[in-house]
Amino acid sequence: MSPKRVAILISGGGSNMVSLVRSMQEPGPGGEAHAGMPCLVLSNQPGAGGLERAKEMGVPTAVVDHRPFKGDRVAFEDALSARLHFEGAEIVCLAGFMRILTTHFVSEWQGKMLNIHPSLLPKYRGLHTHARALEAGEAEHGCTVHEVTPELDEGPILGQARLPILAGDTPESLAARVLVQEHRLYPAVLRRFAAGDREPVFLSQD
Ligand code: GRF
Repeated sequence: MSPKRVAILISGGGSNMVSLVRSMQEPGPGGEAHAGMPCLVLSNQPGAGGLERAKEMGVPTAVVDHRPFKGDRVAFEDALSARLHFEGAEIVCLAGFMRILTTHFVSEWQGKMLNIHPSLLPKYRGLHTHARALEAGEAEHGCTVHEVTPELDEGPILGQARLPILAGDTPESLAARVLVQEHRLYPAVLRRFAAGDREPVFLSQD
């Protein structure tokens, strides 16, 4: 079977995108081929650092800037979908894509679209997750990969990686340690998902 075509949507530096692309370009732990291949890295920000990194890795890139759409989310989403279809995308990975997507877009891609969120969902949906976990006095924190459904940061959980919160942690130190786990978790989930396996992946810090 030919590999599934995976598009990755970014808005910034794209470190999760890099970990996903690398994982698809390398054999698996047992030497097996990946069931996915990167077909496109798409950014809504023309200056996103991840675009250069994708080009260096030999992946086609595109920009669909949201600003000319002047708040017309449906028109922006139609442009996104058109670009994804043009590349034959079969799976869409959101990786630091900082636009809220409406039901219009989500319903078209539902079941094929994943997101990574920096908290142990269902805790701390939305922004500032690390600061909120610290303020709440949590003993642990982490990240979640989930299928995207119309409600923000909801959808079936496909994997979680957890780590202890340390005395003296700041939102920045915690974010840095969670990001290391994001780079392990997202590729592990995508490897399974591309092969048609939705069994969740659970990781803890090594
Ligand atoms: C990550 O923390 C991700 O969880 C969040 O945005 C950040 C993206 O970082 N949604 P990068 O662009 O992948 O480096």
